[in-house]
Amino acid sequence: MKDTFYVTTPIYYVNDVPHIGHAYTTIAADVLARYKRLCGLKTFFLTGTDEHGQKIEKAARELGITPKELADGVVGRFKDLWRILEISNDDFIRTTEPRHERAVLELFNRIWKKGDIYLGEYEDWYCVPCESFWTEKELGEGRRCPECGRQVDRLREKSYFFRLSRYQEPLLRLLEENPNFVKPQSRYNEVLSFVKGGLKDLSISRMTSRWGIPLPNDPDCVLYVWFDALVNYLSGIGFPEEGYEKIWPADCHLIGKDILRFHAIYWPAFLMSAGLPVPRMVFAHGWWTVEGQKMSKSLGNVVDPYEMAERYGVDQFRYFLMREVSFGLDGDFSQRAIVNRINSELANDFGNLVSRTLAMVRRYLGGRIPSPSDGQLRQKALHTLEEYRKLMDDLSFQRALLAVWELIGSVNKYIDSTAPWSLYKEKRIRELKEALYNCLECLRFVALMVYPFMPRSAQRLWEMLGFRNGIEGETIDKSGTWGGLPEGQEVAEPTPLFPRMEV
Ligand code: ME8
Ligand code: MG
Repeated sequence: MKDTFYVTTPIYYVNDVPHIGHAYTTIAADVLARYKRLCGLKTFFLTGTDEHGQKIEKAARELGITPKELADGVVGRFKDLWRILEISNDDFIRTTEPRHERAVLELFNRIWKKGDIYLGEYEDWYCVPCESFWTEKELGEGRRCPECGRQVDRLREKSYFFRLSRYQEPLLRLLEENPNFVKPQSRYNEVLSFVKGGLKDLSISRMTSRWGIPLPNDPDCVLYVWFDALVNYLSGIGFPEEGYEKIWPADCHLIGKDILRFHAIYWPAFLMSAGLPVPRMVFAHGWWTVEGQKMSKSLGNVVDPYEMAERYGVDQFRYFLMREVSFGLDGDFSQRAIVNRINSELANDFGNLVSRTLAMVRRYLGGRIPSPSDGQLRQKALHTLEEYRKLMDDLSFQRALLAVWELIGSVNKYIDSTAPWSLYKEKRIRELKEALYNCLECLRFVALMVYPFMPRSAQRLWEMLGFRNGIEGETIDKSGTWGGLPEGQEVAEPTPLFPRMEV
């Protein structure tokens, strides 16, 4: 029986080094995974690399190395980046690993036994960079790929086909019975109308390429890279060995909108054919442009996540990506926008609140947390936490952050209006203690809520509040009640959480 929340990212192609798009999906998945752990759920978070296919084969040829050498070189770049960005994945799957090949062959065999694979001949247009087939009708002017605009190749060969057409009705039923199967709504509609438009059988083998998993029944052919790649979601949790049923089906496949059809149509059809449960949700997020332009190698404007993390800080970069656009929509990355958010929201609103609160506790109360009190901020904090949970469960990351910042704003106003410095001067110590306890306790709530987004800063704040343990071991159930700050605990000398930046 399943007892684990399971979230995945796409597995990224190794023909290229990681860019901001890869970082975006992976950070979003990390935010979700950390949030689910904070809710006390057993969580499994998988990412990895997609190493087969013509695209990788071609890139390797151009470099004069083998595809495996290319993959071995680039995979380290991804693993390194995920470590730097504090990605808490539980495993990392490479499609060239034996455990993956085993799972792919098992799934292929199950589908074969079901009678859903047959030999035929394939003739159509193929875009190598996108690893996608296109019909004459789908090609635009000058026979260019509708996805990337590049020239396509004519492909004609013997091929094995998956009877996707058999799954039109089951897929329609799946969509109709599960309005949350694809999110956001606009993507759901897109998938629904595509399925309604009719499904053609899908070519799942290649003869022209050697770089893939050979078909067990016909080793002259290798499996189509997408059939191979999608199975990572099963191989990464140990399928077909016993134990994967504790994790499968995936609760959320996080992907970019570019690969929706593969995840929301082909993948569930393969699974239905193999007699396996389908994922619970596919969430397709939008795309980033850069300073208003499409990001591309030829424009030379590809945003390097290593550089961003180094220039602005890991948490600042993570925060910006989650705060700047509503999750699901497209967005624009600009240096000015990230600097503005760092200065106004992180340094001013949040960082200053922490510094001024802790400074007052040290100056007026000798750094000791006073006894719990029950001021007007209590309701606000509890309400914010409730709202936050609803929004996070819905993957509305931007709105969840807005809710937290509203609480931060309320605490800032509360300090201005209660004026603890006057209370101190007037020796109204009971009121002073009450006011500061309320602020401190709100900061503890804020630390918990920002933790999935900014794990390192949340930990620093946690320690500044005097805790010695790791915040990642906390749960909302245990710590999300008012009055959790222990009386007498000593708060630390505040150090700025977020330095101000120049554009
Ligand atoms: O498609 N903005 O791998 P890939 C936002 N191997 N996200 C972006 C982006 C952008 N400008 N560019 C890329 C593949 N992405 C396959 C997946 S899964 C079984 C196989 C993100 O290296 C987005 O998540 O081309 C997109 O889906 C993913 O990178 C594609 O990465
Ligand atoms: Mg791509």
